This record gives sequence, structure tokens and C-alpha cells, in this order.
Amino acid sequence: DSIYDYIIVGAGLFGAVFTQQAVKAGKKCLIIDKRRQIGGNLYTENIDSINVHKYGAHIFHTSNREIWNYINQFADFNNFINSPLANYNGKLYNLPFNMNTFYQLWGTQTPLEAKAKIAEQCKKYDYITHPANLEEHALKMCGDDIYNTFIKGYTEKQWGRRATELPSFIIKRIPLRFVYNNNYFNDTYQGIPVGGYTPIIESMIKGAEVQINTDYFENKTYFDSLAPKMIFTGRIDEFFDFKFGKLEYRSLHFEHERLEINDFQGNAVVNYNEFDVPFTRIIEHKHFEFGTQPFTIVSKEFPNEYSKDSEPYYPVNDERNHTILGKYKELAKAYGNISFGGRLAQYAYFDMDDTIEAALEVARKEFKFIK
Ligand code: FDA
Repeated sequence: DSIYDYIIVGAGLFGAVFTQQAVKAGKKCLIIDKRRQIGGNLYTENIDSINVHKYGAHIFHTSNREIWNYINQFADFNNFINSPLANYNGKLYNLPFNMNTFYQLWGTQTPLEAKAKIAEQCKKYDYITHPANLEEHALKMCGDDIYNTFIKGYTEKQWGRRATELPSFIIKRIPLRFVYNNNYFNDTYQGIPVGGYTPIIESMIKGAEVQINTDYFENKTYFDSLAPKMIFTGRIDEFFDFKFGKLEYRSLHFEHERLEINDFQGNAVVNYNEFDVPFTRIIEHKHFEFGTQPFTIVSKEFPNEYSKDSEPYYPVNDERNHTILGKYKELAKAYGNISFGGRLAQYAYFDMDDTIEAALEVARKEFKFIK
């Protein structure tokens, strides 16, 4: 007989939600993670009372009441509303694109004026019927000023390629809001867990055995022998030994810095949209929890090429990768005792609410209840 009912590879959000449900169903679980800590990309580290989002800013938002109620069992959420700023050539603008942004760009004051201005800017690009790349696509949708100020440099930094070489589907639509509203997300519920995300993951996996610093692939046969069923949230290409090739990623690196001033930028998130500024944003963590410390911690976020020493962050959604992914998914079907879940095993970008929903769905199939 096996020691455990389930082995869960990866103590990120997906693995933790599944584990919580499994323990609740009375199952014996072992959850392992190759990192030095649990939490996956949600991991927050409490540094002198400021919860630092070590793998990038995480703001919880959802319109799904069931998911909101679920996550609220594990933390109190504050009323943080994400309203990032954009810095371009030393001037600040509100995001997402709304009446404040249009006023700052052009001085337009009413929705009618702003719409007329945008229509005038787009007219020049009416001749583009089938945009061949991201640049043409964006110019057609919003014209020169919005494109050049906010989209071009930022996107080129993010993807490490010129906008004329990027496929147009990276930006499906450009949301333009004709009200004075800087709330970045359209969702009904939004907030930051008081105390950070790590305690949420800790309470989710309570009752399971946990091993960190433990890479599944270094001892695969052993881990396979421990339980009849597995939840795998690592990379799907790695699971199959990269036999159809590596799935590509864009990566990020963060430079964290403590400053002996109480406030650096007066906002949690400020984007830097010029191409020549090498980072895409600066996060000031204390503002997520309305901190009043006499010092502050800021993180600069630099996009870069993925290498084996960096973290895989964003899947590259192009044809080559999709074809390869399809082949791995086909192989995965033969593994009835393994559920491949989460952003790495699905090779997709999922927000936290989507991740929870997907993990609950797997649990529901296994245990036929949800609490
Ligand atoms: P995650 O990557 O967190 O966990 C997988 C775990 O598996 C990792 O801990 C990894 O170490 C482990 N692992 C992998 N291979 C292994 C192996 N071989 N052996 C053992 N362990 C292994 N969402 C949102 O709703 N609001 C937001 O503001 C943001 N912000 C944001 C910013 C940035 C920069 C990114 C990249 C993403 C976001 N997200 C987000 C998305 C959010 O990060 C995402 O929904 C969850 O982290 C997904 O959780 P997973 O468990 O799927 O992956």
C-alpha cells in the first residue's frame, strides 16, 4: 500500500488549493516544491513588517462570488484598488486609458471631445484593413498618441522584440474608458490579503506533509511510488523530458531595494513606458497594505529572455509553441492517474481566481464536494 493518497508537485496556488480540498476529504497528501519556500509566484516575504511580493505584484480580483468567498476563508482582504500610473518622458498619466488619461494627453474634458480626438487619430490608419503586426493593429485601434506614449516602448521591452515583429493577437483589444475611473480591473471584488499571500498558502496546506527544496525530477521514481495519484503543477515539457522541444517563456528579474524614506512614489505601481528605461515598472510594496513604516521597499521589474537560471514567467503564445504544447497534451491523456494543472503544466497565463477555479474543479471531480 502507498504511504499517501496524493502527491502534489508544486506548492503554488494550484497545488495548495487542491491540497486543501484533499485534506478536507480525509486524504493523506505530500506536497513538494523545488523552491526554498512555499507559495509559488504568490510568495510574499515579510521584510521588517512590509510584505514584499517577491515574484511580482499580485492583486486579487474576481467577479466570481464563489471564488471570492473561498479565498476569504484564509485571509482578511483589504480594500486596495489597483490604479497604476504610467511614466513617459518624465510625465505621469493615469491608467487604464480613461478620461483622466485623455485629459493628461490632450486636455479633452468630455467623453465627446475624447472620442472625437481618438477618431481623428485613428482616421490616418483607416487604410489598414488587415493589420500585419502589433504596431499596425494598435495604430488602427487607438492612433499615434496612445500607441507611442503607452504601448510601443512598453510592449517592446516586455517581449524583447520590435512591435513590427510581434503578432497582433498579443493585444486583442485596447480598452478605452470614457469615464473618470482609474480602477484598473473591472471585477466586482478586489483586494490584497492583510499579511500577504504566504499565510494563505500555509493555512491551505495545513494537514499535509510538506517538503521544500525538493525537485520531483531529481527523484521521480521514488515520488511516483509514494502515492497512486498525482497532481502535477510543474512544466509539462519537462515532465516529458522535452522530447518535442522546449516551450518558450519570457522571464523577469526583480531588483529589490530598501530606502530610508517613508514614501518613494506615492502609489503601489508605476509603469515606465519608454523603451530606453530598462525596467517596465516599479512596485512600492507598502502601498498594497497602506503601510505607515518610516522606510520603504521598492522593486524594479526587468523583462528578459528566459534561460535555465531564470524563472519561466510568461508563455510565448505563438504557433510553434502551440504545436508543441498540443503534442505534450496528447501524451498527457495517457496518464489517467495524474492531473496536470496550473500555469506551468497548462502552459497558459492564469489569474489567481482562474487558478483557484481550475484547482477546485479537479478536486470536485476527485471528491465530489466543495467547501
Ligand atoms: P506557480 O508557478 O505559482 O506554482 C508552481 C510551483 O511548482 C512553483 O512553486 C514551482 O517551484 C513548483 N515546481 C515546478 N516544477 C517543480 C518540480 N519539478 N518539482 C517541485 N516543484 C516544482 N494573478 C492575479 O490574479 N493578479 C495579479 O495581480 C497577478 N500578478 C501577476 C504578476 C506576474 C509577474 C505574474 C507572472 C503572474 C501574476 N498573476 C496574477 C498570476 C498568478 O501568479 C498565477 O495565477 C498563480 O501563481 C498560478 O499558480 P500556480 O500554482 O499555477 O503556479
